[in-house]
Amino acid sequence: MKKLLLLPGDGVGPEVMREAKRLIDWFVRRRGLAFEIEEDLVGGAAIDARGMPLSDSTIALARAADAVLFGAVGGPKWADIGFDRRPEIAILGLRQSLGLFANLRPAAVYDPLVSASPLRPEIVRGLDIMIVRESTGGIYFGEPRGIETLPDGQKRGVNTEIYSTSEIERVGRVAFELARRRRGAVASVEKSNVMESGLLWRQTVTALRDREYPDVALTHVLADNCAMQLVREPRQFDVIVTANLFGDLLSDLASQLTGSLGMLPSATLGELQPDGKRHALYEPIHGSAPDIAGRGIANPLAQILSFAMLLRYSLDMESEAALVERAVESVLAKGLRTADIMSSGAARVGTSVMGESILRELEKIEAAAA
Ligand code: IPM
Ligand code: MG
Repeated sequence: MKKLLLLPGDGVGPEVMREAKRLIDWFVRRRGLAFEIEEDLVGGAAIDARGMPLSDSTIALARAADAVLFGAVGGPKWADIGFDRRPEIAILGLRQSLGLFANLRPAAVYDPLVSASPLRPEIVRGLDIMIVRESTGGIYFGEPRGIETLPDGQKRGVNTEIYSTSEIERVGRVAFELARRRRGAVASVEKSNVMESGLLWRQTVTALRDREYPDVALTHVLADNCAMQLVREPRQFDVIVTANLFGDLLSDLASQLTGSLGMLPSATLGELQPDGKRHALYEPIHGSAPDIAGRGIANPLAQILSFAMLLRYSLDMESEAALVERAVESVLAKGLRTADIMSSGAARVGTSVMGESILRELEKIEAAAA
């Protein structure tokens, strides 16, 4: 029996989570998977109900779960709340309190959507990049930080980029392990030409590769050059491993190579524990999209693909994960599109029809295999 915690959040979060729940039900009914499922409020929904975006009780539920499936948080209603109580604290707080240091952000182009990319098809066809972004360290959390007043009356804002060897090694290991399951290549991204933390990053990743992963190809790419290469020739990359802030920027960039943000899932993994478990949270890369919330038109595929990642990385169910991904691919190949990925000649559908079509496709694949 696996414990799942569902945190739909705000905006389109609950709408796309509904489709993921139907998918989970399908696996329970048709594949005999056994889940104990809890659900809780986070983000703006939790601010409205309890006055804070993330409660200790929610953190406790997340800690007890085998995996957390997260929707999205935030919206204009909570835009004026103080910096430390805003809805986004829910996601930053979960990353920090569960020690979710490795944020996996795939950017893959599905063949039927190749023309959705702003880049030419010949540059992105078959694109399949995995960005591993460090997510509990670096400049997001480094001390000293703050806004101080100087003797002359002007102010100074301070943030600090800090990485220790163990922080670099553990995220490096995640990247090398992933590369072994993929095309065997890691690009380590930093600014070792100007930053000491970047130089240590490069040295540490190099030593780790030489010691534990001699079979994986390692290249070093400066972060600015990486941004350029991602647009110029993105298919040169397999796995990219990088610090928190660079990963934040580069993963947004990479998401746009696909032209379909509504399609992209992500996973954030914690330390491998002695019992073989690791804390993990899965969420779509897209936000709460308040502009389209409540209209039944959001694309549920990123949430559905996040559940596929959950099957793969937390439950070790590779074939089930691949089954979901196959269903997504064939529904797209049939020409079904939500508004965000609509193209001429395709059939426009809403959130629940898209979710239903995935279930129907799963049924078909099962029937064909029987
Ligand atoms: C992301 C987001 C977050 C981040 C924000 C909402 C705190 O941009 O997940 O990429 O910067 O990590
Ligand atoms: Mg971001």
